[in-house]
Amino acid sequence: MEAAKLLSLSKDSLRQLAVEHGVELITDEEQIKEFKEKREKEWHKKLTDNLFQKKMRFFDSISLWSGDEKIEFTFNDWDATKQKDVQQAKDIGNQCFLLAKKMLTDNFNVMLMGKPGTGKTSLALAMLDAAHKKNKTTMFVSTMAFSLLLKKSFNDKNAKFQVEKVSNAMKRADVLLLDDFGTEGGMDGSPVYNELQSRLFDIADARIIKDKKTGKRLKSTILTTNNSFQQLQGMYNEKILSRLIPHESDQIVAFKNMEDVR
Ligand SMILES: Nc1ncnc2c1ncn2[C@@H]1O[C@H](COP(=O)(O)OP(=O)(O)OP(=O)(O)O)[C@@H](O)[C@H]1O
Ligand SMILES: [Mg+2]
Repeated sequence: MEAAKLLSLSKDSLRQLAVEHGVELITDEEQIKEFKEKREKEWHKKLTDNLFQKKMRFFDSISLWSGDEKIEFTFNDWDATKQKDVQQAKDIGNQCFLLAKKMLTDNFNVMLMGKPGTGKTSLALAMLDAAHKKNKTTMFVSTMAFSLLLKKSFNDKNAKFQVEKVSNAMKRADVLLLDDFGTEGGMDGSPVYNELQSRLFDIADARIIKDKKTGKRLKSTILTTNNSFQQLQGMYNEKILSRLIPHESDQIVAFKNMEDVR
């Protein structure tokens, strides 16, 4: 039946027509209101989900992976029995899990410290995964890959453009993982070149912004490193470290007694 004809029907005729066609017709005002509100909520959710997915496609595409390939790891993948000290590996997994949970409502920095192959990047990725599942935008940046891109940008226009794009995204992501922080200092832990220090200062400074009303931080940053605090102090200006290194001891995850399982 045409829409115009349908609209001209009385409520009773409409009800009759609905019964004949096996359609459940809502006539109660309250029910109509409820139905409309539910539909609006569904539309709103669909719109925000679509927007989030679009944002995440951007952050995934601009992320700088070590070896150019996206890696994924979740808390379910963490296998404590890979380590001799199973209890310690469990505790480390739990500490990261609790920090990831806290990060859904609060913003702060986390630093995972330890020897190579002990699972730092893996647990940091699991934290990103938890944030992503709760609609937080996440970004992965291999510090070494960022440093190489920056060096390339000194005499390459495209790389220069890319550095700007990556840096801006690093300021904006809800949760940023700066992986292998300190490797750019080289084996001897000498001071990192000025351009990288300036870039990282700019990014770290942008990431500690607070909401004007609530005074709460708006971004979280996760670092993984093979270096000790002392080594990092030899590589970076203290103004950068003050903005990146967590100030609470429970936000520092020490991979003590963990072995290389790579
Ligand atoms: N407890 C674990 N359960 C499952 N897989 C693990 C575990 N620990 C490490 N792995 C795996 O071992 C490999 C090395 O781990 P990962 O890259 O996380 O180490 P890392 O501490 O970041 O090392 P590096 O300091 O060299 O970057 C990865 O393939 C990772 O998935
Ligand atoms: Mg790593």
